Amino acid sequence: MSVMSGQGSAASYRIWRIEDISADRARQEQAFSRLQFIITYLDNAPAGFFSTLSDGHVDYINATLAQWLGIDIAENGSLSLRDVLGDSGARLVSGIEARPGDTLLEAAQDAGVALSAVCGGVGVCSDCRVRVLQGAVSPLNAVEQEMLSAADLAGGLRLACQTEIVCETPVVVDVPPDSLSAAQRSQVEGEEIPLAVAPAIQAYDLSADPPSVDDLRGDWERVTGLPAGEWRVSAPVLAGLPGTLRGHGWRMRMVALGRDVVRFLPPETTPLGFAVDVGTTGLAAYLVDLLTGATVGIAGATNPQIAYGEDVMARLTLCARDPEGLPRLQKAIIGGLNDLLREVCAQAGVSPRCVVDAVRVGNTAMHHLLLGLPVEQLGSAPYVPAVSSAMRTPARALGLDLSLIHISDPTRPY
Ligand code: FES
Repeated sequence: MSVMSGQGSAASYRIWRIEDISADRARQEQAFSRLQFIITYLDNAPAGFFSTLSDGHVDYINATLAQWLGIDIAENGSLSLRDVLGDSGARLVSGIEARPGDTLLEAAQDAGVALSAVCGGVGVCSDCRVRVLQGAVSPLNAVEQEMLSAADLAGGLRLACQTEIVCETPVVVDVPPDSLSAAQRSQVEGEEIPLAVAPAIQAYDLSADPPSVDDLRGDWERVTGLPAGEWRVSAPVLAGLPGTLRGHGWRMRMVALGRDVVRFLPPETTPLGFAVDVGTTGLAAYLVDLLTGATVGIAGATNPQIAYGEDVMARLTLCARDPEGLPRLQKAIIGGLNDLLREVCAQAGVSPRCVVDAVRVGNTAMHHLLLGLPVEQLGSAPYVPAVSSAMRTPARALGLDLSLIHISDPTRPY
């Protein structure tokens, strides 16, 4: 219905116009139900798809894909590319920063893309085949001409380890699925054997007198209940004391290793330990309640160093021929362990701050690559490690989000 007003010579007037819009409404209803039908069809189509915003936030995922991935759309209001594609897949479709002179393999490794590189980039396995779709790269070299078949060359394939980025203009690369390392499945569950709990750390429930104009001592000096003797506390650990005391009624749980203070936790917080097996192929991590010995989180992952060579010798060779090899491999394993730490803490619903101790086991090469120790002597007779005994080292100095890590003695055969 529409109304029009006007002014005649003698009086004002209004014209009322009434139309039958039932047919319009019916058409709208029909279009709406068609749209509903299409949405329902897309949601339940026998194919999974999703769309994301430029920041990687998933703004649509169809019900089929969500079901395949075991995602409850109603409960997961906020999904990211990582949730859908996993770490490596998310990195693969995201932009990678690279410098001119880097090979495509180095750029992929730095970004954590699991491009297969069995030979570690020496150019003898031809596993790292990619197709450059756009951008300036180095011309085909003699290694590629020898290693790639006529069909590969005709299909525009290159070896990522031999192809260098030559300037700063973007390079677009297609990575065939068989050039990606297969995801490894780790068997991390096992039988729990009851053991007497004897953690290396000790927990002390302490309090402090609130300060006043008559008591201007520092927070550490006002802590009461400390067993007698000299205690050592470092500045990074001490940084947690003022907030913990003031946030919890001047009470806290102090965790120490012998006479060294490791961390100040809120009162009654359970101190947790992180145990990790660093294998050449896979990582297995466990989060353990250090008071009861109960395992409260378990996770496994592929060792991210696999992007630099699938076996130990390929990784040692990389370190021997490239001074950046060792730092790169160390950074990769530290990143992988930090990811596992976050995962087991999320499983247990605790903050990584509650993890006060860690222990690592694994072969000699993985031991040295985690600690950043030179590995040249491991690759030549008589194959001696830098250290044969177990050791303890501050984990933060390695880049781990932990206070301490105990490193088991390296196993000799590797
Ligand atoms: S040929 Fe082996 S990594 Fe490129």
